[in-house]
Amino acid sequence: MTELHEGTTLDDTTLAELREIAGRYPQARSGLLPMLHLVQSIEGRITPRGIEACADILGISAAEVSGVATFYTMYKRRPVGDYHVGVCTNTLCAVMGGDAIFERLKDHLDVGNDETTDDGKITLEHVECNAACDFAPVVMVNWEFMDNQTPESATQLVDDLREGKEVRSTRGPRICTWREAERVLAGFPDDLADEGPAAGPASLVGLEIAREKGWKAPASGRKQVGGRKADTPVEAAKQADSPRAESETRVAESDAKTVGEDAGGKNEEGGA
Ligand code: FES
Repeated sequence: MTELHEGTTLDDTTLAELREIAGRYPQARSGLLPMLHLVQSIEGRITPRGIEACADILGISAAEVSGVATFYTMYKRRPVGDYHVGVCTNTLCAVMGGDAIFERLKDHLDVGNDETTDDGKITLEHVECNAACDFAPVVMVNWEFMDNQTPESATQLVDDLREGKEVRSTRGPRICTWREAERVLAGFPDDLADEGPAAGPASLVGLEIAREKGWKAPASGRKQVGGRKADTPVEAAKQADSPRAESETRVAESDAKTVGEDAGGKNEEGGA
């Protein structure tokens, strides 16, 4: 296997880590997404050799790996700079200033969408909703939130990143490089997950109002099946699955019956 990847930066250590990821899952191929992140952390993008390595380890075809890598936008076929700056231009962020931020950054950095600055520092991309609409307009740096941005603050942000200044996410840790972030996404923590605030004020407004008013969630969302309430979430999930399983069994039995009747009908036709 090593000879196959001769000349690549995917050395034996990385190949061992790719196997380690695959080994975390009951079905090894479930590890493909984090494996692709690990490839990106080493090679700066999804390379043909990275695709081959994943396919080889998982026992699937390169076409299957490539199909996944080209489907999800977090996998890059072109090299990404030290910092991936994603400007949300989805509806809410766009009208709140996301479009203006994106235009300003394109001018300021002299790059187009999905392009990297000449110094290799910043890759600019417009991204879809990051589920942070309460902080619109949002910019992501290596998938960390930079909330409530303006064209001016976003310009300062990319300047700071290019100059190597320490930048902290609004709701998260200090910003690391894109490759370092990719390694975390591959499942190798950098122990920064608890750094910085986990939630911003806008997200907590509902909780504060509920506390003020003494509102509480219903006692339990757990289903009461068969006259007994589940004691644990796992038990509740099992109970919730039971009627579905019964229903699916009924459908399967019904399908089988229909097929049998069809087959019988044909036989009868054939015998007529
Ligand atoms: S529209 Fe930008 S985070 Fe939702």
